[in-house]
Amino acid sequence: MLNKITVVGAGNVGATAAQRLAEKNLARTIVMVDVVEGVPQGKALDQWQSGPVEGYDSRVYGTNDYEMAAGSEIFVVTAGIARKPGMSRDDLVKTNAGIVKTVSENIRRVAPESIIIVVSNPLDVMCYVAMKASGFQRQRVLGMAGVLDTARYRMFLAEAMDVSVEDIQAMVLGGHGDTMVPLVSYTTVSGIPVTQLLAKDKLDQIVTRTRNGGAEIVAHLKTGSAYYAPSAAAVQMVEAIVLDKKRILPCAAWLKGEYGLHGVYCGVPCKLGKGGLEQIVEVTLTAQERTDLHASAEAVRSIQATVGV
Ligand code: LAC
Repeated sequence: MLNKITVVGAGNVGATAAQRLAEKNLARTIVMVDVVEGVPQGKALDQWQSGPVEGYDSRVYGTNDYEMAAGSEIFVVTAGIARKPGMSRDDLVKTNAGIVKTVSENIRRVAPESIIIVVSNPLDVMCYVAMKASGFQRQRVLGMAGVLDTARYRMFLAEAMDVSVEDIQAMVLGGHGDTMVPLVSYTTVSGIPVTQLLAKDKLDQIVTRTRNGGAEIVAHLKTGSAYYAPSAAAVQMVEAIVLDKKRILPCAAWLKGEYGLHGVYCGVPCKLGKGGLEQIVEVTLTAQERTDLHASAEAVRSIQATVGV
């Protein structure tokens, strides 16, 4: 158990993440920071009061400034506005870049040794803003997208084959957008290549549905975007770090030549342990997957180039 984890943003993703962190007893103290007066305080108190029922001892505090977050070992950054129907994640860039920049400067001030997990959209570009504004090394600034996109892909596959989600091993790489790259060549069901179990047209449909997974939910909700699976995915990354599990998870990482990509955040297989990003795992891709990964990274780079940090 860590001493302190802070979640920035007490909206749906942030508050649900704080609740999940507390339920897993991942830190003695969970802090929720939000600019809206009263909301983090009220939600935190409500969550702390769930402890006696759910059986956790994490103390949950809500606040409007960063003093209470001082010394946090991990920050989960969810601050920013969410998509509305018809909007792409990239439509959020101007507003959210300003928010994530301010957040990251505050993190550097109160917890210079911390690890930042970015959840705000457009995800990959917000990771870049967080890295630049915090001045942290890439080991300590990671983005949550691949675990979520992979969870959606695994859920759709499990439904199509009527098998347990637990038995689907898969990875979705690339940027967190329409160009994401589900690795069909590495998708297995308890070790059996998925291509032996599912027809190509069905697999293609699932790949497309995965790419549109976030938009499908926005279209239903109308006033916001997904939060149960996004918060679960962020907490899985936190857990891998807190427990030093050395898990290999698809995360947005700053690339310095891996997969032939330089100077861009993109989803790749990452080993997560107590140091944060401990290794980027390079695997052989098919020619198509490599082309798709590069196209996805270039889509991120074109937005990244528009933000001044
Ligand atoms: C999604 C948003 C959170 O994929 O990016 O649901």
